[in-house]
Amino acid sequence: MLIEKSKFISKTTITKNTYLIKVLSPSIARTAKPGQFCNIKVSENSFPLLRRPFSICDVDGEFIYFMFDIHGEGTRLLRDKNEGDELDIIGPLGIGFNLQWDYDTAIIIAGGLGSAPFPFLTKNIPANMEIHSFVGGRTKENVIDYKMKNVSVATDDGSNGFYGNVVEFFKSRIDEFAAKKIKVFACGPNPMLKALQNFCNEKNINCQLSVETVMACGFGICQGCPIEKYNGDGYLLVCKDGPVFDSMAVKL
Ligand SMILES: Cc1cc2nc3c(=O)[nH]c(=O)nc-3n(C[C@H](O)[C@H](O)[C@H](O)COP(=O)(O)OP(=O)(O)OC[C@H]3O[C@@H](n4cnc5c(N)ncnc54)[C@H](O)[C@@H]3O)c2cc1C
Ligand code: FES
Repeated sequence: MLIEKSKFISKTTITKNTYLIKVLSPSIARTAKPGQFCNIKVSENSFPLLRRPFSICDVDGEFIYFMFDIHGEGTRLLRDKNEGDELDIIGPLGIGFNLQWDYDTAIIIAGGLGSAPFPFLTKNIPANMEIHSFVGGRTKENVIDYKMKNVSVATDDGSNGFYGNVVEFFKSRIDEFAAKKIKVFACGPNPMLKALQNFCNEKNINCQLSVETVMACGFGICQGCPIEKYNGDGYLLVCKDGPVFDSMAVKL
């Protein structure tokens, strides 16, 4: 974990409300792994007090990319940075995706902004492995498939692809993977992850879930991000023991 004075380089738009920012942060970029996150101080003064956590969307040499929607003041301040502005970033934080190559087909499942960690993961999956990405959004405007491979789309209103949620879509296609050794990597709203967890655990499918909670410190000091263990035997911390957990590890 490092604290690095980083430099805001540029901003692009992915959808109407979704931004991708490029930041020069050589030390964090060098050690970052897919599924990890950074805690960013979004202003130079004391408001907002708390840093904001964002998944590492992609890494390219000394540059890190973050993708975010505008939720409140923190993300608005981040969007309004200018080229050359300094950003104080702590990272890389947490435990990312388990990249043991104990499968032949990676199934990536993303709901809404849950697509954020997958450009970096996709880049790190060896070329000889199959990748199938299932991407869901409320409407076609909310579907984010930036730098993902072999994408199939689901929308809640049927405006693009499968009519329904992305977990139902994956379940409807599961027979296609009967002869494969699959591993599922997922990120999205908690109800989506819970539905996926139930399905994967019941079918004994190897599944990794990237979970979100509200956070403060981001590295295990404040105890502010507990998540109950799957077996009910105590708690883990999302920032330190996650944010990526095996689907058999936590209760959603
Ligand atoms: C490990 C981790 C990785 C994340 N990665 C991303 C990412 O890649 N892109 C992205 O856009 N967001 C991500 N988030 C959520 C992000 O941290 C919040 O969107 C951000 O803190 C909102 O800050 P704000 O000041 O704009 O909004 P605030 O004013 O703090 O909040 C505005 C609204 O957003 C809600 N909100 C705040 N934090 C969260 C949260 N963690 N989850 C859900 N709702 C929240 C609040 O309840 C409130 O309704 C991540 C969160 C975690 C814990
Ligand atoms: S955010 Fe402080 S312990 Fe997790």
